[in-house]
Amino acid sequence: MRAMDRLAGKVAIVTGAARGQGAAEAALFASEGATVVLTDVLVSEGQVTAAACGGTFHQHDVSNEEAWQRVVDATLAAHGRIDVLVNNAGIFHRARMIEHTLDDFRRLLDINTIGVFLGMRTVAPAMIAQQSGSIINISSIAGLVGAPNSIGYGASKFAVTGMTKTAAFELARHGIRVNSIHPGMIETEMIHEVARHDDAILQKMANSTPFRRPAAPEEIANLALYLASDESSFSSGSEFVADGGVTAI
Ligand SMILES: NC(=O)c1ccc[n+]([C@@H]2O[C@H](COP(=O)([O-])OP(=O)(O)OC[C@H]3O[C@@H](n4cnc5c(N)ncnc54)[C@H](O)[C@@H]3O)[C@@H](O)[C@H]2O)c1
Repeated sequence: MRAMDRLAGKVAIVTGAARGQGAAEAALFASEGATVVLTDVLVSEGQVTAAACGGTFHQHDVSNEEAWQRVVDATLAAHGRIDVLVNNAGIFHRARMIEHTLDDFRRLLDINTIGVFLGMRTVAPAMIAQQSGSIINISSIAGLVGAPNSIGYGASKFAVTGMTKTAAFELARHGIRVNSIHPGMIETEMIHEVARHDDAILQKMANSTPFRRPAAPEEIANLALYLASDESSFSSGSEFVADGGVTAI
């Protein structure tokens, strides 16, 4: 197969694709021949990002069950199939455990965990009918090891790691693969907010990691491309880490 055609003929939904890693994934998938459907709660940003990569945009809150059905129905009506789902949408909340409110904890679970469950459940019937598909759930290194000052986020991302394995097991007989990606520090709005939009703080955070730099969103998109493509045909239920060595020790 020609390079630039690694997703030829495939239809991919990417959530949280208005900006950051989701936007990088949608653009890369489109450049590799996929038909891309971008979703986000950020409407004007999402429309601009979708137009730039030739994709379709849907306003979509991933924690909303009916909204998921609308996105899947519209995608099937327009394109007839769904080959790839990237459950990328997510939020971060920083707070010490003793100060973490229950409302903030529930909001993290609603978006980061229930959003992923609803996504997998809603696309599964179409993928089962096709007897093929690849679901990519964006967890975090906070879904593999403890992360200070983010107990709700860690809970929400460990849940993604576990759900990925359950879904992989149940869907394997239908030719559907389900894997999780565990990014380290990626330079997007999320990490800039953590660093309070101060480059010195960002660099200090990066200096505590082996590579001493954050990754560009494209470095995660390349991994997602591999999992979306048939090149990863024997991988399912697995954790794919791209963290610049953070969890090596
Ligand atoms: N940036 C990092 O260092 C890092 C590290 C590990 C994991 N992650 C994960 O990567 C994923 C992408 O984050 P990012 O780094 O691109 O940050 P980002 O904040 O730039 O992008 C997240 C996107 O998700 C969207 N979103 C938020 N809530 C939503 C909802 N309810 N429904 C639909 N969309 C919603 C946002 O509008 C935004 O466009 C997230 O799941 C995040 O937890 C990020």
